[in-house]
Amino acid sequence: MPAVTTSFDTIRTEISGFAIRDIVSQFGTPCYVYDMSKIEERVKDLAAFDVVRYAQKACSNIAILDRLRRLGVVVDAVSAGEVKRALAAGFDLKQDPHCIVYTADVFDQEALALVKEHSLHVNCGSPDMIEQIGRAMPGANVTLRINPGFGHGHSQKTNTGGPQSKHGIWHEDVVECLRKADLHNVIVTGLHMHIGSGTDLEHLSQVCNALENIALQVGRTLTTISAGGGLPVPYRQGQTYVDLEQYYSLWDATRKRLEKAFGHSLSLEIEPGRYLVAESGFLIAEIRAVKQMGENTFYLLDAGFNDLARPILYGAYHPISISHRSGRAPSEQIDVVVGGPLCESGDIFTQEEGGFVAKRKLPVASVGDHLILEVAGAYGFVMASNYNGRFRVPELLIENGKLHCIRARETFEDLIRGESIPPAS
Ligand code: LLP
Repeated sequence: MPAVTTSFDTIRTEISGFAIRDIVSQFGTPCYVYDMSKIEERVKDLAAFDVVRYAQKACSNIAILDRLRRLGVVVDAVSAGEVKRALAAGFDLKQDPHCIVYTADVFDQEALALVKEHSLHVNCGSPDMIEQIGRAMPGANVTLRINPGFGHGHSQKTNTGGPQSKHGIWHEDVVECLRKADLHNVIVTGLHMHIGSGTDLEHLSQVCNALENIALQVGRTLTTISAGGGLPVPYRQGQTYVDLEQYYSLWDATRKRLEKAFGHSLSLEIEPGRYLVAESGFLIAEIRAVKQMGENTFYLLDAGFNDLARPILYGAYHPISISHRSGRAPSEQIDVVVGGPLCESGDIFTQEEGGFVAKRKLPVASVGDHLILEVAGAYGFVMASNYNGRFRVPELLIENGKLHCIRARETFEDLIRGESIPPAS
């Protein structure tokens, strides 16, 4: 299993050889920094799978997509915008018609037009999509995303299986969907299940059996099975990775049994988002105020939930490290609450699900020191907003000893782009 290199609530002076001080003096704060070497390691971990399909929703900067493409990874797209991102990053459908797959529970008009224009392979998450794709692209091969009737995630909000989830085709509707596919001249060549994000081996492994049962109902038209995403990464000290060898063996055994039943080979895909990029990402902020409120000490930053929404959305825990401006590191640790600049009391990075403020033991720090939210590469920048009139922050990439800006800090012009004031009547 990979070694954990995250700094858990301690001091960090550099990221992959670049001093925090130098990064912020060049690009200011807040900023996201991604360490490419970490992404490369994670891609290598998954080499046993035939296809690694990156769920780009986790971090969709075109530079990251380009680098993953060069590492042999293909992508999943959930919207017209994500399809266009993949194309902009150089994914070439002529070279590999399956290098971009559209996976969603609905087509909006724009996505359906783009799917048709590029003859994209579609992973249908609703029965209605079968008819819609049949009309747009008669004779198309499709994948069905099945909701196996159970799911699991790090939060109820990231559980994507079971009757409370809107995702996928209900497992009992498969035969009806196959009929629908026949009727609308669509061939089911792929089967896919994704039960949730940040789940564990126990739940992930139940998916193999569920998928096998459905695959036998679909039959010999199948050429691809997908294990979906959901692989967890350690956010807290003591958490570990899923045993990937064991995970792969379970899926490989399922695949082999199906190959025997069908008499032809099947390609085995995995569709991770978080696993590939979470640990590569750091959100660097500056401490702008340190204040005492009764028994609580607050470190208030120049980054808020508009920059990293996971804590307010899910009570997600991100490891935090401190970089002292002076370079002198006080050894003393204190209990603090870490918050942002937004005019909203939920703008707290150290909170539990339900919005309960939690204290974190962190090194003593002062105004002007830097605070780094770690393991922030997945569902970090991509979920950022302009709330409170804040500019979205730059994204930086460290690769082979160089620091690249892969997205500039937004300006006021970006903030009001597209807005206009109608003439006063
Ligand atoms: N495949 C499908 C169909 C998905 O819906 C997702 C995630 C993935 C793959 C990738 O899942 P991953 O390997 O990253 O767990 N914003 C939440 C996570 C939402 C995930 C949505 N779908 C968070 O910050 O934890």
